[in-house]
Amino acid sequence: MGKFSPRAVAGALKKRPLPAENAFLNTESVVIRITSIRETVRRREKHGTDTPEELHETFESRNSMRSDIRRFIRKIPKAELHIHLEGSLEPELMFAIAERNGVELPYHSVAEVRRAYRFTSLQSFLDIYYEGMHVLLQERDFHDMTAAYLARAHADTVRHAELFFDPQAHTERGIPLETVIGGIHSARVEMENRTGMSTRLIPCFLRHLSADSAMASLEDILRFRDLITGVGLDSSEVGNPPAKFTAVFNRARAEGLHVVAHAGEEGPPEYIRQAMDLLGSERIDHGVRCIGDPELVERLKNGQIPLTVCHLSNVRLRVFDTMADHNLKRLLDLGLRVTVNSDDPAYFGGYLTENYLAAQEALNLEPDDILTLARNSFLAAFLAPEEKGRYLEELDRFVSLFPHTQRGKRQ
Ligand code: HPA
Ligand code: ZN
Repeated sequence: MGKFSPRAVAGALKKRPLPAENAFLNTESVVIRITSIRETVRRREKHGTDTPEELHETFESRNSMRSDIRRFIRKIPKAELHIHLEGSLEPELMFAIAERNGVELPYHSVAEVRRAYRFTSLQSFLDIYYEGMHVLLQERDFHDMTAAYLARAHADTVRHAELFFDPQAHTERGIPLETVIGGIHSARVEMENRTGMSTRLIPCFLRHLSADSAMASLEDILRFRDLITGVGLDSSEVGNPPAKFTAVFNRARAEGLHVVAHAGEEGPPEYIRQAMDLLGSERIDHGVRCIGDPELVERLKNGQIPLTVCHLSNVRLRVFDTMADHNLKRLLDLGLRVTVNSDDPAYFGGYLTENYLAAQEALNLEPDDILTLARNSFLAAFLAPEEKGRYLEELDRFVSLFPHTQRGKRQ
């Protein structure tokens, strides 16, 4: 039985008519379109060719089916746990902020900026990413960047978002941390009040800088302890192992902060072990290179340590050659707690819906896989049990409209 297959969707229709507010899924039309695709494929297999009319019809059907799946993915309640706010700075906003701040960009147009976004590795991206954030000078700039991301996330039915940002990338340029946090915080409060969406802040240390610099940054961050949920570790991975930051993370944990770390994006499985054993990392950001170490995979599975996977990012940074080569589905099938995230959506070509959709298409994800990914995102969040329960109930209500996706319910 295939994903979003006629039998599965028809079964769902028979057992429970969809209420009007869920008309977005337009289930009946999915059944009709899939059936028509199937018939065309069968005819093609039998006769070896299509009439131009059939080809056109198949093309149209595929396009509309894709839009139904897109709506299903967009509407499912979900959390985002790996998003760098500075990586959500779209070129249009970058230009607008540059202009009002009198900052000159090394590009003449938005199109030229986008043309520069051709990466060959993590470092080739980071060079451009740090350059882009030079336009951020005032509290208002951090506010506008954050508000733009949150609006985009809300449109994707992101009910909860844990937001990374890079304090040292700004304080090193002479921007006080109160400017950075002030802007980010006011945007999240506005969004929470307007939509009920919840957010958390996770400042990250830049691992290409020294441990002393990270420790000084932590002390600076602790002035805003009440606004901060945890700390993370990002930037150039290879050559900067988690072990370098053991003392910093010991101090953060002593303050009761949650801990996450990028590991196993480009770096070896050993870095994932260090992140857990030396830093106390509760989730692993990326972590996709664990696959080379079966014992580590077993440990991640047994401990249900969440991996915040960002596959559009991985393909754009050449961690995998193509989306079809990505191991997200493999990790999911192995029983790991995989989540889907957008990382730096302005640079990698997609927010959360695009990430789910790219995986669904390239890796043939079933509806149950999508539900499991959404469920994992809440299970892996740094939320109080009652908040988690509230989101999981909302997800269950969504699931109950689709009886063919019961596996998602059992997780
Ligand atoms: N990896 C490491 N550092 C980063 C990333 C990433 O994917 N995005 C922003 N900083
Ligand atoms: Zn990242």
